[in-house]
Amino acid sequence: MKTKLLAFALTLMIFAAPFSRADEGMWIPLLIEKYNIKLMQEKGFKLSAEDIYSVNKACMKDAVLSFGGGCTGEVISPDGLLITNHHCGYGQIQKHSSLEHDYLTDGFWAMSREEELSNPGLTVTFLKSMADVTDKVMEGVTKEMTAEERDKKINSNMAEIRKKAAEGNNYSAFVRPFYMGNQYFLFVNESFRDVRLVGAPPSSIGKFGGDTDNWIWPRHTGDFSLFRIYAGKDNKPADYSKDNIPYKPLYHFPISLKGVKEGDFTMVFGYPGSTSEYVPSYHVDMVKNYLNPKMIEIRTKKIDIIDAAMNSDKLIRIQYSAKKAGLSNSWKKWIGENQGLERMKTIDKKREFESKLTEWINADKERIDKYGKILPRYAELYSKLNELNPVSSYTSEVFSGGVEAIGFSRNIKSLADLYNATPDAEKIKTAKANLLASADGFFKNYDAGTDKKLFIALMTMYGENLAPEWQAPEYLKIKSSCKGDFSKIADKLYDKSVFTDQVRFKAFIGSFNKSSVSKLNKDLFYLLILDVNKFLDANVRPELGRVSSEIQKLNRDFMTVQMEYDKARVFYPDANSTLRVSYGSIKGYESRDGVYFKPYTTVKGIMEKDNPAIYDYDVPEKLKTLYRTRDFGPYTQDGEVPVCFIANNHTTGGNSGSPVINADGHLIGVNFDRAWEGVASDIAFNPSQSRNISLDIRYALFIIDKFAGAGYLLNEMTIVK
Ligand code: ARG
Ligand code: ASP
Repeated sequence: MKTKLLAFALTLMIFAAPFSRADEGMWIPLLIEKYNIKLMQEKGFKLSAEDIYSVNKACMKDAVLSFGGGCTGEVISPDGLLITNHHCGYGQIQKHSSLEHDYLTDGFWAMSREEELSNPGLTVTFLKSMADVTDKVMEGVTKEMTAEERDKKINSNMAEIRKKAAEGNNYSAFVRPFYMGNQYFLFVNESFRDVRLVGAPPSSIGKFGGDTDNWIWPRHTGDFSLFRIYAGKDNKPADYSKDNIPYKPLYHFPISLKGVKEGDFTMVFGYPGSTSEYVPSYHVDMVKNYLNPKMIEIRTKKIDIIDAAMNSDKLIRIQYSAKKAGLSNSWKKWIGENQGLERMKTIDKKREFESKLTEWINADKERIDKYGKILPRYAELYSKLNELNPVSSYTSEVFSGGVEAIGFSRNIKSLADLYNATPDAEKIKTAKANLLASADGFFKNYDAGTDKKLFIALMTMYGENLAPEWQAPEYLKIKSSCKGDFSKIADKLYDKSVFTDQVRFKAFIGSFNKSSVSKLNKDLFYLLILDVNKFLDANVRPELGRVSSEIQKLNRDFMTVQMEYDKARVFYPDANSTLRVSYGSIKGYESRDGVYFKPYTTVKGIMEKDNPAIYDYDVPEKLKTLYRTRDFGPYTQDGEVPVCFIANNHTTGGNSGSPVINADGHLIGVNFDRAWEGVASDIAFNPSQSRNISLDIRYALFIIDKFAGAGYLLNEMTIVK
């Protein structure tokens, strides 16, 4: 009897507590109170859910921002100073760089507010409020509707909600689906457009270890940069003006010097981009066995070519550094992801789950009607996707984002098209001006010699690695005319084309007229890009679109059935570029049999990695001197300056730059990466190996103060000893 009672009580407890148990998950700020706060407090968090997210009082969310759309940042002073990653500010730092002022190599520090550099086009966005609007979005949606009618109704409801939310204020609003379209949330945002560069360490600190150390723990990268938000005199967003004043935020993070140790509570608050935790085994099979291998292969080639060019020439290094970082980042992640999926046996586990789920569905007539067709239909659809997806991705890797002259040539189509109908002089003038402006940006970072090598290699690979029926006709023609040896035609092409030289391009656009169109139609780069797109439009994209949108609908039901099957579990929604909270603790891990990684690194490790012969490991003299003389200031732990630490917070791309917060709500770090063994966490989180990597905030302070001599910036921060 006693045991029965106990069992009953336990069951009650499990069902009564809707709290999430594991550290895995990216949680919705609005629902922290409901689902997470209790567990967070058990783990050591000392504040309340209202301190994280509230619309009634200033709170952490008022200091977290989406930086430039792809990263996160946080405000660290009452004067709008923000910190994000070096790799998030990289594009801006690069834009201000030239051979004379090479801020990438040397770093940049504004020694007064006048010296801060403006960044046209860069915006930062704060969340003002969010709300569950599922009921409103579903208003008028009925079971009898066709899929198209349903989408139409939902879209018009969302537009209405969006419009209302942004009425009479200077906010913007959007509605986004959660749980694969089972729930909808409204987000109201405020965006600032005058954001200035304040400081960035040299790449030898901010990108220390480069692409070799990227995605790797132990890590020693000082991946941070500083910006300042400016507003109009009314503290509201304004276009750049020298009369703007530093933005006064509702809240800024106090910075802790206390440090971290294994087991300490940590929380990451930021903008994770996208994850696929609830997809069927078929999807993982596609990613792991069809898509990733093809993409890894072609990127390996591109990176080899660009790497060699960068190592041979200083200017090429500046021109291609950002491009290469981007290429290499995903390339390396895919490799780690495939290894992780293999190690975790994710496909097998999903298959096991699916067969249990199928049994459960088949045990009930109603369930069979509702869910019985999902998995068999997935099987059919993914067999198509397995072929179409790699074709589409591989083709754009070659033509749109591979050979640069080919990708760039497409821009001119909008001008050429204007000559087909009755030419409109005004439109032509604007199109020409736009092209000339985009050419400045393109050629600043373009090296024809490097591109020529890319052309020869990628044209060859496209012919070898895609089945002939997936190759565009124009390509096949060129290939046969040069007998498959693209090096034979490359020299002449690169010497003559208007797309490989800025002077030729400008002259061509300057005098562009009707007869130029026929000249353009003979340009091989232009011909290729048009034909490839025509080919994809006819043979790949429509079917790919149909299959993908049917899968999207299945995903909604698949999510519903998973939630129904496991009623006791609290599900977190996949990342979708909205603000989320992840929590957990500082934790090392076993990388492989017999190897345990401690959870933090120090400057000592930088000295160990020092190698002046390798660009990415060339430690600046000044840092060596500081180390030798042990001139560390108050930024130490056990006598060393800490650099990075890891924790088991669930993060993904977009979380870069996110504040890492301790139990007191103070800033202890800036998130920037994940450890290699656990990067498959976008598909399957591995509690024993998935780790987020953060910069220890004390290293940032040490660099600003001791290395850069910009210690004046610390005066405006709230530093807690
Ligand atoms: N892996 C990190 C992220 O996905 C950092 C990337 C930037 N660093 C680099 N060496 N490419 O964004
Ligand atoms: N480095 C990533 C970012 O830029 C973060 C990650 O993927 O863990 O957002």
